[in-house]
Amino acid sequence: MDAQGLRDAYVNFFIERGHTYIRSASLIPENDPTVLFTTAGMHPLVPYLLGEKHPGGKRLVNFQKCIRTGDIEEVGDATHLTFFEMLGNWSLGDYFKKESIEFSFDLLKDVLKIDKEQLAVTAFEGEKGIPKDTETAEHWKSHGMREDQIFFYGRKDNWWGPAGQTGPCGPDTEIFFDNSQKKCGPACGPACKCGKYTEIWNNVFMQYFKDKDGNFTPLKQKNVDTGMGLERVLCMVNGAKTVYDTSLFAGIIGKLEELSGKKYQDDMRSFRIISDHLRASTFLLGDGVVPSKMGQGYILRRLIRRASRYMSNLGIEGVNMQKVSEVIVSEYSAAYPELEKNKDSIYSQITAEEEKFHKTLRKGLRRFDEMIAESGGTKQLDGEAVFRLYDTFGFPIELTQELAAEKGYNVSVEDFNNRFKEHQEKSRAGSDQVFKGGLADASEQTTKLHTATHLLNAALKKFVDPNIQQKGSNITAERLRFDFNLDRKVEPEELKAVEDYINEVIKANIPVVCEEISYEEAKARCAVGVFQEKYGEVVKVYSIGNVSIELCGGPHVRSTGEIGRFRIAKEESSAAGVRRIKATVE
Ligand code: ALA
Repeated sequence: MDAQGLRDAYVNFFIERGHTYIRSASLIPENDPTVLFTTAGMHPLVPYLLGEKHPGGKRLVNFQKCIRTGDIEEVGDATHLTFFEMLGNWSLGDYFKKESIEFSFDLLKDVLKIDKEQLAVTAFEGEKGIPKDTETAEHWKSHGMREDQIFFYGRKDNWWGPAGQTGPCGPDTEIFFDNSQKKCGPACGPACKCGKYTEIWNNVFMQYFKDKDGNFTPLKQKNVDTGMGLERVLCMVNGAKTVYDTSLFAGIIGKLEELSGKKYQDDMRSFRIISDHLRASTFLLGDGVVPSKMGQGYILRRLIRRASRYMSNLGIEGVNMQKVSEVIVSEYSAAYPELEKNKDSIYSQITAEEEKFHKTLRKGLRRFDEMIAESGGTKQLDGEAVFRLYDTFGFPIELTQELAAEKGYNVSVEDFNNRFKEHQEKSRAGSDQVFKGGLADASEQTTKLHTATHLLNAALKKFVDPNIQQKGSNITAERLRFDFNLDRKVEPEELKAVEDYINEVIKANIPVVCEEISYEEAKARCAVGVFQEKYGEVVKVYSIGNVSIELCGGPHVRSTGEIGRFRIAKEESSAAGVRRIKATVE
């Protein structure tokens, strides 16, 4: 079975059981400022798990692209991935434990042909206020699972969520593949890391909401949220040794073998790191993320740079990432058409970042030589300088260690890790700023700037390029800052046309109208904004005469006359393919 075969088999199995197929959402969560990426299939469904009506009904199924960045540095072993796909099915206040377990059991047995002797399952052992989940165990037994295949664990192992800091969560039952190897000891079970058990599916019985103070309250409806890792299951059903040995990576690894003239077996770690990181990067670029110093863009930059380092380990010289990206786009576009649609910008951005890193790397190597010269023969490199190499020149610690070892020098990894942790905390705080996005505060001045941002968005489309889309927006009391896609600078005459037009619209004192309309209507009226597959949902749009209509939460001025004089202060590059305008109102 290949990946598309598995996606189809999973989706069809649940469609036959009354589920509606929904498309994968973006890797960038739309409404959760507490996380950088979509980490599970349930993430885009949070409003519906909390009780909002889903247009697809109460039973849903999909495959969702996900990114988890907790252990980027672990990638390279047999199991870790940053990007992965999650197969999932949901009951929104419809079926619960009995059917959920039955569906899972039947799919494993009938579709994936897994013998029940090869399975082990877990259930929540209970805690104060929440009883032991014997009901789940009974359902598993009704399918012939023996007592010794059923394990009870506490919150650490059998509770899932929320995905961000707050949200729906609950106890779960996890399904493991047991490779029949001997137990490593009397306490060996699915929670053991000896390798006997591999988790393949998680069925969460979502009944609680965790609020920002850490309180759990029962949800209005009892939901089921399940997640099955596509890569792992593919590995298991095909009897592959690791996820990298499945058909999913064959094309990518083949291309890397061709580019390097080496074999995967020669340096599995490098092959795996490059494959994982370029797969994640291609998908991130496909969802509009651009390499930068903050938030999602920072993670993307790290992935591309780490991949670049390992490409040079394999002896791949020159600018080559696009060639690998092309394989990924061609293999994944049937399931994720956004890749094909955005391939031009994926290729130009990945190439630009790769070239930039090559230059930085050369500079970094010069800096490294200076550090050696400055060390005064101590044979120990200064911790701060080592961290700077990482931070400024993108040198992974392993690279610095390697280079240092060649010269007989020591690097304190512990010191680096401490600095790294400190830096991570700071950059996390920085990422939070990204999400404040639009409005820093809702004073009169920022409200004016917010409406001016809508006018700017519309005017850029009209006078510069109709394909322009917002890539970021930030407003303080002093100015607006608007990022948008464009592969060139905006000419001074164009900037003047944009500015003059906006001032005319302001002078015409056009009312700003807020309406709540259906998703379809917003789309039909060509409203600007982030559209996702949420048919039937009511959205809020702000329109300004026939100048602008945009999906937005507000607030805005009542009519354009309130804005005052609009002035563009600066136009500059923000990232490859992204321009930035700063403007003020007086
Ligand atoms: N949301 C659950 C998980 O990610 C299914 O494991």
